[in-house]
Amino acid sequence: MAVTLHINGSATRVEADNDIPLLWVLRDQLGLTGTKYSCGIGVCGSCMVLLDDMPAKACLVKATECAGKKITTIEGLADQADHPLLKSWLELQVPQCGYCQSGQIITAYALLSNKRDPSADEIDQAMSQVLCRCGTYPRIRQAIQQASELMRAKDPS
Ligand code: FES
Ligand code: FES
Repeated sequence: MAVTLHINGSATRVEADNDIPLLWVLRDQLGLTGTKYSCGIGVCGSCMVLLDDMPAKACLVKATECAGKKITTIEGLADQADHPLLKSWLELQVPQCGYCQSGQIITAYALLSNKRDPSADEIDQAMSQVLCRCGTYPRIRQAIQQASELMRAKDPS
């Protein structure tokens, strides 16, 4: 069946069988390969996207369930290179192999969008949804904390 998805600010018509996960539509039909496939069973978080601004694992969500919702993938953040989170990520050289990183950044972006001053525990809890086999967790936390400070310094309200 055909379904209209709203991805990164554009409406896109795709063919989606009833059970096809959003991840396959993003990667195979639309070429949005920044969203990664790893476990495929909702464990690793590499496939994280934002659904109505909340993190969601694209391997678990059916594409048909996403009609009418706002979908944001890592490609959707491409025009926000000056966002404190992305700047901190680069400055602290968070990635190693990079495979998990789009899921990490999407999840961190959602965290800071909903809470500008998360505690270390809140960061760890939010980021526990995304696994990193390279063990970049300390730098991930540091980058989020730095971004939080930059965001609050820029706009103290
Ligand atoms: S590929 Fe979706 S959670 Fe691992
Ligand atoms: S940077 Fe390699 S898996 Fe996270």
